[in-house]
Amino acid sequence: MRIYTIREVTAEDLPRLAEIERECIPKPWSIAAFEAEFAARGAVFLAAEDENGEICGFVTASSVLDEVSINNVAVTASCRRKGIATLLMNALWDKVSDFAAFVTLEVRESNAPAAALYEKLGYKKVGVRKNFYSEPCENAILMTKTKE
Ligand code: COA
Repeated sequence: MRIYTIREVTAEDLPRLAEIERECIPKPWSIAAFEAEFAARGAVFLAAEDENGEICGFVTASSVLDEVSINNVAVTASCRRKGIATLLMNALWDKVSDFAAFVTLEVRESNAPAAALYEKLGYKKVGVRKNFYSEPCENAILMTKTKE
């Protein structure tokens, strides 16, 4: 069984994050977008790497005061259903839960795997953003996890 470790992302990792993002997301962030967000105040970037040091998934979030918004979650196709996104999301929660009142995210209405992941981790559907996504145009489900 492979062992995956969660660690902080460094600037050198950003091209690999952009590569996974291109593989996984219909309208991916560019490297420049990752770099800008990484440099922003309140950014949280975590990666999952295997025992060879290869990054196979990541999560990014922005925080403003006590509100944390997840921006990206992706796991490379060959590494899915091994609990990696769960490890990443739990590590993110542990990292922010001392100051965050809640963590929020959007997910495409058609993205059943991601919605199932978030529900399993305690995120609740709190709204719909009409036509939030483009290419293809689609509603976003807004989900939030609050401290108990
Ligand atoms: N179908 C149904 N449920 C799924 C699923 C799928 N294909 N993939 C994950 N889940 C749910 C299950 O409840 C799963 O628990 P289980 O394996 O015990 O049944 C739970 O999520 C945890 O799965 P996990 O192994 O931690 O997730 P993962 O590492 O495979 O990553 C995604 C899940 C969504 C991040 C991954 O599929 C991905 O990168 N997708 C493309 C990018 C994307 O859609 N990102 C989210 C944007 S909002």
